[in-house]
Amino acid sequence: MNPVYLRQLTVAAALLFFACGTAVAWDENIKQVAIPGGLTADTLPDAKSKGAKLFASYCSRCHSLPSPRMHSTSDWAMRFEKMMDHVKLLAGTVPGIKMPAENEKREIVSYLQKMGFIGLAEYAPLLTEPEGFKVAWFCSACHAVPDPIQFPAKGATQLSAKEWHLIVDRMNAYRKKQGREVMSDADNKTIVDFLVKKR
Ligand code: HEC
Ligand code: HEC
Repeated sequence: MNPVYLRQLTVAAALLFFACGTAVAWDENIKQVAIPGGLTADTLPDAKSKGAKLFASYCSRCHSLPSPRMHSTSDWAMRFEKMMDHVKLLAGTVPGIKMPAENEKREIVSYLQKMGFIGLAEYAPLLTEPEGFKVAWFCSACHAVPDPIQFPAKGATQLSAKEWHLIVDRMNAYRKKQGREVMSDADNKTIVDFLVKKR
């Protein structure tokens, strides 16, 4: 059998299993491991906006609803397209999975871009600093490495070491949940130092 077809079939079978909500204990677990720290429609930022509502409705069909802050502003459009490939594969065969209309796609992507964090480009000069490799090693498994400068709406500030520690600890818990190597206290410190350094 054609290997590409075989692969698609396996993906489709796995998703059918997700989508039909087969009542097996690890079903929910897998959905949460794929999307650590998932949210619900009413806990989304700006939950009443049109973009948030469409996002909650289309993006919780196969897995837990991801946080709109799980990706950087510049990566969301590409991540969204990857999801549309999954939808294309299943729309029409799995009940409840359908393609958003063009205007709905635009609403969802602009909502995600507005909420995403500020990421560094893959080859950003900052990452060539001595600690850069370690930061990329531990942080780029799930999303872009965050720029030390965040929240431009609040006047583009660098978070404090305490604030970054809380975030990095949360990320470490996600790594653990996904069975990835966890960061030691020393790794954690190197990463926070990198993020709070004044340049
Ligand atoms: C047809 C099923 C399906 C739908 C609908 C779907 N996803 Fe996914 N999603 C998947 C699968 C399968 C994976 C794991 C494989 C992968 O990462 O592509 C995944 C993984 C993810 C991940 C974690 C991996 C990554 O790329 O960061 C995010 C975030 C995500 N989806 C966001 C979304 C968003 C946003 C939407 C709504 C536009 C959406 N998904 C709708 C099937 C779907
Ligand atoms: C195992 C996957 C994973 C890894 C690895 C990971 N993250 Fe995340 N990151 C997430 C998810 C999921 C979210 C959205 C949910 C949340 O914020 O808790 C997120 C969100 C973020 C945000 C936005 C959150 C906010 O409150 O503004 C920042 C900043 C961030 N990550 C930084 C990092 C840093 C720094 C590292 C490396 C130490 C890292 N991430 C590694 C999964 C990961």
